[in-house]
This record gives sequence, structure tokens and C-alpha cells, in this order.
Amino acid sequence: MKKIVFLTGAGMSVESGLSTFRGSGGMWDEYPVEKVASIEGYIENPSLVLEFYNKRRNELLTVQPNEGHRLIAALEKDYRVTVVTQNVDDLHERAGSTNVIHLHGELMKATSSREPNNLNYVRRLPADNLNIAIGDKAADGSQLRPYIVWFGEAVPMMSDAIDELRDADIFVIIGTSLNVYPAAGLLNYAPAGVPVYLIDPNDVNVSQHRWLNFIKKGASEGMKELVSLLE
Ligand code: OAD
Repeated sequence: MKKIVFLTGAGMSVESGLSTFRGSGGMWDEYPVEKVASIEGYIENPSLVLEFYNKRRNELLTVQPNEGHRLIAALEKDYRVTVVTQNVDDLHERAGSTNVIHLHGELMKATSSREPNNLNYVRRLPADNLNIAIGDKAADGSQLRPYIVWFGEAVPMMSDAIDELRDADIFVIIGTSLNVYPAAGLLNYAPAGVPVYLIDPNDVNVSQHRWLNFIKKGASEGMKELVSLLE
């Protein structure tokens, strides 16, 4: 079976009702990114940051995967599929994708403030108590925090993502402005000769000089077109 690797960003979940980060109406307009999504912001005002992610988590409960997520999951019938996502939502998993790498963490999980990447401390929040409060403790006794990779922190899943791309036959990028590194640099690891598809309703500034099949559509319509191109 051929292997398809996807790289998805916030645009993947727009048709489910979630916001993107950049551009007018984006999340970072309403919430300054340095306050709610950086390690310095967390150290300065942990309760503001916990509140921001509590809100995001409760919002995630109200939305569903869209046709784009479902079409990616359905490709597992005919391809080996790896989804590398910058999204912290769980919509790929809920649509049925079984091999998802979260570069920026997972909203539904919590971890230790002292050792956020120690998997012994990562746990799924219980459905009946999705909020993290000041004073909640991880198993090592430190303050429980969201399992999110913030600006200023390492991206430990990046090496798994690079490994997945090494033997890819097709690479598909959906709904990311490719502004945030190292995720945006993944394109550099697509082996020469591997066709790259880009699905986005807007122009994307791709810094790498590489020929892309640009499908200028939203995630769902774009995935329909990709599926028909692959047939
Ligand atoms: P951005 O908000 O930077 O980019 C979203 C992209 O989605 C843009 O290129 C839009 O044109 C596109 N888009 C909009 N509607 C779409 C639709 N219906 N279908 C498909 N695409 C659509 O989001 P990301 O690139 O994901 O990190 O942002 C990367 C990282 O920056 C995030 O993971 C987050 C953020 O700061 C952290 O919080 C650490």
C-alpha cells in the first residue's frame, strides 16, 4: 500500500466551527498569543492560561469532525495514512484516523508543569471534570497544566513526524499558514519526487521552492478533489 502523510493546521477544523489563529477574526486577535500560548505567559499568569484552555476544551465538546476529517480517515482503506497535525483538537481521531501525531499537544490531556514531556505524567482529563484549576496536581506533585506545546518550548514529536515523511509516497498540507516552525519546515523533509498537494482556500506563503499541486479550496471540498485526483 502507498503511504500518504498529511500535515494539517487550524484551517482543517474551520468547517467544524473552530477559529484559525492568524488573520482577521483569528484567535490571536482576541487573545494575545504571548499571554496565553507561551511558556513566559504561563509563568506570569497561570490562571489566565488555564482559563483560556478550559474554555477551548469546553468549546471542543460542542463541535464535530467535518467531511474533510472524515475523508482523510476513509483513505485508510486504501493507503497507509499518517496525520501530522498542529491542531490540539481531537477531531481527526473522532473522525476515525488511527495514526495521528500531535506536534503541538492535545487539548484533552494534561501534564506536569515540571516535566511536561514526561509521558508518565500525561493523562486524559476525565469527561466529568475537564477544567484544570490552580492547585490541581500532576502525579509528581507539580501544578497540573495543559498538554500543549507553547511558544518557547521544544517540539518533541517533530522527530517522529520527520521519520513518517521519509517513506511517504504522497504529502498533503491542509489549512496551515506555514508560519510556525519547526512544523512549517516539515515540507523540507518530503523526499524529492514525492508529489505535494496543498489544500487551502487562501494563498499560502510557501518559502520552499518546490512544485505544489495547489487545490485552492476549503478542507472538505479540497479533500473531495484530492480523492478524485488520487483515483
Ligand atoms: P493559521 O491560523 O496560521 O492558518 C490557518 C490557515 O487555514 C490559513 O492558511 C487559512 O487560509 C486556512 N483556512 C481558512 N479556512 C479554511 C478552510 N475552510 N479549509 C482549509 N483551510 C482554511 O493556523 P496554523 O498554521 O495551524 O500553535 O497555526 C500554526 C500554529 O500557530 C498553531 O498550531 C498554534 C498557532 O499559534 C500554538 O498554539 C503553539
